[in-house]
Amino acid sequence: MAAPHSAFAFQPFSAQQKRLLYWWREGSPYRDCDILLADGSIRSGKTIACICSFLIWSMERFSGQNFILAGKTVGALKKNVIGPMQQILAAWGIPYHYVRSGEQRIEIGTNTYYLYDAHNESSQDKLQGLTAAGALADEAALFPRNFIEQMLGRCSVDGAKVFLNCNPESPGHFIKTELIDRAREKHICHLHFTMADNLTLSQATREKYERMFTGVFYKRFIEGLWAATDGLVYPQFADETERFLLDEAPEDIQYAVIGVDFGGSKSAHSFTLTGFTRGFRQVVVLDEYYHNNTKQGRLSPAQVEAAFVDFVRRAKARWRVYEARCDSAEQTLIEGLTVAAVRARLGVEIKNALKRPINDRIAFYNSLIAQDRFRMLRHCTAHIRAFAQAVYDPDEPVRDIRLDDGTTDIDSLDSTEYTTERIQDDILYLGRETACRA
Ligand SMILES: Nc1ncnc2c1ncn2[C@@H]1O[C@H](COP(=O)(O)OP(=O)(O)OP(=O)(O)O)[C@@H](O)[C@H]1O
Ligand SMILES: [Mg+2]
Repeated sequence: MAAPHSAFAFQPFSAQQKRLLYWWREGSPYRDCDILLADGSIRSGKTIACICSFLIWSMERFSGQNFILAGKTVGALKKNVIGPMQQILAAWGIPYHYVRSGEQRIEIGTNTYYLYDAHNESSQDKLQGLTAAGALADEAALFPRNFIEQMLGRCSVDGAKVFLNCNPESPGHFIKTELIDRAREKHICHLHFTMADNLTLSQATREKYERMFTGVFYKRFIEGLWAATDGLVYPQFADETERFLLDEAPEDIQYAVIGVDFGGSKSAHSFTLTGFTRGFRQVVVLDEYYHNNTKQGRLSPAQVEAAFVDFVRRAKARWRVYEARCDSAEQTLIEGLTVAAVRARLGVEIKNALKRPINDRIAFYNSLIAQDRFRMLRHCTAHIRAFAQAVYDPDEPVRDIRLDDGTTDIDSLDSTEYTTERIQDDILYLGRETACRA
C-alpha cells in the first residue's frame, strides 16, 4: 500500500544533475564505475538528484535485493532522504511500503531499502551480515570512516553500486584523499556541484546562503572547496570584538541555558549562561564563571558545587533557566551537581552535554557570527578572550583540529557550545528567517 504523500514538484534538472541521474546508464562514460561521489556546495541539488538516480538504477537493475539508505542520524536521513523519496515515488506513481517498526525500511516491489544511521564508531555493527546490491549515503563526510568501509564491503552483489554525497570538509578528510584524489584509479565517478547546478535557487536565496558563512566555511559550504583551516577559529570575532559586546542584556531574552565544563589539574572550570532572544534571533552569552585550576589552585568537588549553586541562583534571579548541560566525561561531578541542585531547590535539570563533533559546533558559531547574531555581555571576559584567541592547531593544517595545548581557553568554548549544540540547527534555520526580516 502506498502511504499517502504529497508529490514532489519537479523542476528542470541542471546538466550536472542529469549527469548524476544517469552516470550508471549505457552510453555514460562512467557506466563501469562502482561508486558515485557527488560533493560540493550546500543546496546545490546533490541529494535530490542522488535519490532519483539511486531509485531508478535500483528498480531498473534489481529485484528481490537489499539496499542501504544511510544518514548521519536517522532524523537527518528522514528529513533529507526519506521525506523527499516518498514525494518522488508519489510523483512517479510508484507504490511503496514504509515500515516504521522494527528494522525501519522502505519496500518497493520486491526490493527492500533499510534505514541506517552512521552516528558513531559502532554504527557500522548494524551493517554486519547484510548483503546489499547498493547504498545511498547522504552527507557521507560526516560518517565515521569505518561505516563507509563496512558499507562498501556489504555491497557485494554483482553489479552493486554505492552513491555518496557530501559537503566538503578539511583537505585531509579520507573522502578527499582516498576517494576524490584517487577517483580514476578506483573507478569512482566524481561529480562536483556548486549552487549554479541547482536551477531552482533564486538569486535572493543564493545570496541569503552566502551571508550565512565566512572564512573556511564559506569556502567549503558556498564555494564547495575542500579548504584548509587557517589560524583563527573565529577571525571575524577576533578582528571586530567590540561589535559583538553588549553592556546590557537584550530585553527580549526568552530563556537561557547553562553549560558546564569541568576542569582537570591543567585546565579550568567554566560555566556559561547563554540566552536566546525571541525567535532565536540572537544568541547571547549573559554570564560566566571561570576558575583556572593551574593559576588559582584546584577546587574540591564541594567548592565546584557551591560555585554552581551560586551561578544558577544568579541566573534564575533574572531569567528562565531550566537546564544545565554538563561535560559528560565527569559523571561523578555531574552526580554531585545533581544532588547539590536538588538540595538547594534550584529547579534546574542537570543533563549530559551531547558532545557533537567539535567542527559542527565551530561551524555553528562561525555562522552565527557571520550573520551578526552572536553577542556577549562585556563582563564575560574569559569567554571573550576564549573566542577571540581560539586557533586551529598549526601542526595539523589539513585536519580541523582546534589547538588544545593549554595556551588558549578551550574550556569556555566547550561550556558555551554545550548550551547550544542540542538546538543549533533550529537556531540557524528558524532564527535566520526572523533575523533576515528584522
Ligand atoms: N530538479 C529539482 N526540482 C525541484 N526541486 C529541486 C530540484 N533540484 C533541487 N531541488 C531543491 O533544491 C533544494 C536543494 O537541493 P538538495 O537538497 O538536493 O541540495 P544538496 O546539494 O543536497 O544540499 P545540502 O548540501 O545542503 O544537503 C531542495 O529543496 C530540493 O528539493
Ligand atoms: Mg543534501
